[in-house]
Amino acid sequence: MRKKRDIFTKKAKKEGYRSRAVYKLQALDTKFKIFSKNQIIIDLCGAPGGFSQVARDRTNGCASIFLVDLARVKPFPGITGIIKGDITKFSTIQELQSQVSNFNPEIKEIVVLADCSPDVSGSWEIDHARQIWLTEVALGISNYFCAKKFVTKIFQGELSKSLLDKIKLFFENVSIYKPPTSRKQSAETYIVAVRGKKILKELYQIEFLVKE
Ligand SMILES: C[S@@+](CC[C@H](N)C(=O)[O-])C[C@H]1O[C@@H](n2cnc3c(N)ncnc32)[C@H](O)[C@@H]1O
Repeated sequence: MRKKRDIFTKKAKKEGYRSRAVYKLQALDTKFKIFSKNQIIIDLCGAPGGFSQVARDRTNGCASIFLVDLARVKPFPGITGIIKGDITKFSTIQELQSQVSNFNPEIKEIVVLADCSPDVSGSWEIDHARQIWLTEVALGISNYFCAKKFVTKIFQGELSKSLLDKIKLFFENVSIYKPPTSRKQSAETYIVAVRGKKILKELYQIEFLVKE
């Protein structure tokens, strides 16, 4: 399994991509046709930038792409904005909003990508709960930006069903897909949710984010 991972890590490096996660998003886009020109793409938990690179390539460089992560990310061609911050913090999303509103007024749709993974604690229950929490925050952010598409990773476990039900409240079409490059043994899978319903103010706003 490690060998298989190494193959994709080497392939990504050779092809100029920053992570092997790119092959997962490529497979998702090939199946679900996520990207099109003139989108605003918000890449939550996006370091080191593989997903943003795929978004750039699949939109022929015609989208505005904003990446947010706790980690510092070196800029690369095609990226519009990089925010170093915690997605669970109100201030990070305020900064994101101010950057997004400065770009591309003729936008057609907003796409939110969320490939969030917490630091691994060694306890599956804790890691699962944290990952679901981050994904729920990402869902709230996608609602705040009235995203038409929401593409997210989830660690499957006892909390994933209720998260899936919440995603279905916001999006009309919700599909679950495990890309071929995702290890069979891993609990991760991806959700592609499209056609955002009108904003559900009473359910999620960014007010639930942490304010310092
Ligand atoms: C699997 S990596 C993302 C890989 C990326 N999609 C790519 O293609 O290069 C998960 C990321 O989640 C980020 N992360 C975890 N918790 C976060 C938080 N609260 N706010 C922002 N980023 C977070 C980590 O720093 C890490 O970079």
